[in-house]
Amino acid sequence: MKILVTGGLGFIGSHTVVELQSKGFEVVIIDDLSNSSEKVIDGIVAITGIKPTFEKFDLKEKTKVQDFFKRHSNISGVIHFAASKAVGESVEKPLLYYENNIGTLVYMLQELSAMQSANFIFSSSCTVYGQADKMPITESAPVKEAESPYGNTKQMGEEIIRDTCKVVPALNAIALRYFNPMGAHPSTEIGELPIGVPQNLVPFITQTGAGIREQLSVFGGDYPTQDGTCIRDYIHVVDLAKAHVVALERLISGKNTENYEVFNVGTGTGSSVLEAIQSFERVSGKKLNYKIVDRRAGDITAAYADTTKANTVLGWKAESTLDEAMKSAWDWEQKIRK
Ligand code: WQD
Repeated sequence: MKILVTGGLGFIGSHTVVELQSKGFEVVIIDDLSNSSEKVIDGIVAITGIKPTFEKFDLKEKTKVQDFFKRHSNISGVIHFAASKAVGESVEKPLLYYENNIGTLVYMLQELSAMQSANFIFSSSCTVYGQADKMPITESAPVKEAESPYGNTKQMGEEIIRDTCKVVPALNAIALRYFNPMGAHPSTEIGELPIGVPQNLVPFITQTGAGIREQLSVFGGDYPTQDGTCIRDYIHVVDLAKAHVVALERLISGKNTENYEVFNVGTGTGSSVLEAIQSFERVSGKKLNYKIVDRRAGDITAAYADTTKANTVLGWKAESTLDEAMKSAWDWEQKIRK
């Protein structure tokens, strides 16, 4: 079966391509290389021995999207990662985010709606919950007003898919609400490419550990949590990638009970920033140079998943601990600095 993975050379996309190939799927990747590199294909081949088909183009070019589906009429499923994902950048450039994240989703859904039957996995985010009132967060927690245009594109994306599924019964979709992806494939052949100054915690930790960054700033030590720092649900990217394959197989096998379903994808365990730092120090044997500074605007205090639905309905559960995920991140950091 042939699966289209948009953004398949990106961080989560490339790990998902590896898991798809390991399960025998044929993979076609579309990526515009705006936040990735063609060299990632070598890493995928090093792990699976299978070279995915790769087409480089921008999904904002509607005619190219239409032409792609004419040439690949036997697509059994689409996993749609392609999107801009920097929260801060989205605040400065909202139209870039609405055009890229929403426009390309609409073009994708227009093609899928014309197919006999279509299976679609959407990359969503726990950011749709904002600061949820209750921890752990279930899928029935209310979607709150987005804190950023990036977060809004995830909320709008889910609504666009839901409304489309209502009028296109042949379209089966699952939105996966990611918590905080981290780490890298244990082979260290693929991982999160260090492009620019890392906005996310874990790459900043490993780059500080590697001496690329002088010191980690911990954004806020006065939150109402056990150690005053924010709590998140850090999930190993390989566990997250596997969730996409399980979700896709659910749709292909017709096990879905509605044609639009939503699942939280996290570990179910919350870890504070200081606990993430302690995890790094354990797995690396190095002391991390950090300083607690002011809070970062827009940060929420806590977010970690109730994974009951993913565990019982989807039949997926995260396997890696924080230390295992942090070790994979550190191994990757050391590999790319060689
Ligand atoms: C985690 C914690 C920071 C950097 C965002 C998006 C989410 C997804 C993941 C794309 C927070 C603290 C961070 C640093 C720090 N993005 N931190 N020093 O903000 O939970 O989620 O990235 O899909 O949609 O919202 O992740 O890694 O930026 O921050 O103290 O240098 O680490 O304050 O508490 P976040 P993050």
